[in-house]
Amino acid sequence: MERIQSAIAKARAARQEGAVRSPFKLPSATSRNSAVQAAWASLPERTLDASRVERNRLVASAPGADSTPFDVMRTNLVRHLREHDWTRVAITSPGSGVGKTTTCINLALSLARQRELRVIVLELDLRRPSIQKILGVLPTANLSDVMRGTVAPEDGLVRIRPNLAVGMNAEPATNPAELLSSTQAAAAIDAIEIRYRPDVILLDMPPVLVIDDALAFLDQVDCALMVAAAEQSTVAEIDRAGKAVSDHTKVLGVILNKCRYMDKSEGYGHDGY
Ligand SMILES: Nc1ncnc2c1ncn2[C@@H]1O[C@H](COP(=O)(O)OP(=O)(O)O)[C@@H](O)[C@H]1O
Ligand SMILES: [Mg+2]
Repeated sequence: MERIQSAIAKARAARQEGAVRSPFKLPSATSRNSAVQAAWASLPERTLDASRVERNRLVASAPGADSTPFDVMRTNLVRHLREHDWTRVAITSPGSGVGKTTTCINLALSLARQRELRVIVLELDLRRPSIQKILGVLPTANLSDVMRGTVAPEDGLVRIRPNLAVGMNAEPATNPAELLSSTQAAAAIDAIEIRYRPDVILLDMPPVLVIDDALAFLDQVDCALMVAAAEQSTVAEIDRAGKAVSDHTKVLGVILNKCRYMDKSEGYGHDGY
């Protein structure tokens, strides 16, 4: 029901904007597209520190063997999104600490190396925000305040690449469960989508077996990727989490992270594509 309402709201908003969603097309010279370009250009820029990029395993920030698994994932993901005219991809996991946020950022960096794509990462793991620490950049304002409707979308995003914007949180949010399921949060994400017309929105979600408020929110996304950690997530957990998520959205696949014994070129396993 919420999914339908959200879809209706999105369609209505798109109509009001006089624009048809056309992901993966190069911007044409319409005034709508110049407004989108201007919106992107006016976002504050943040530069990633090279040593932090290395220390925090942001291997997809540059092309190379370490980025290859993410680039393969990117290609498959873009194909799925294009086929279904989808935008919103939840990144979730059975439990915490499996590398969900690291994977989300790497996938975003890989996507953003395709300059024709516009990519947005939104940090919705509101109890354990970590993107700020992983990237080593400060947000202008907390994404949680954008979701409450007290801060405008343009004040809650920073650009770490010309075509990659991130909404993050400097501290945990109060009442995260209520916030995630609020109509204000849904409206804020719709507003971000309308203003910035991203081809892909990656939503860094809480782990589903730990926090059930993630599940209701999944009604608002188009699909989900599940991150699990070798030697950490059990098959039973992955199965339980997959079933819980698939009650709300399409699970595109499971990404097996932290594999110690894989070939170097396959540091991140992925399955189900
Ligand atoms: N492939 C990997 N190999 C080793 N350590 C990893 C890998 N991916 C992530 N980590 C580390 O695991 C910890 C948790 O990662 P994080 O992305 O914050 O997980 P989550 O978002 O699931 O809580 C971090 O210290 C991160 O650097
Ligand atoms: Mg995380």
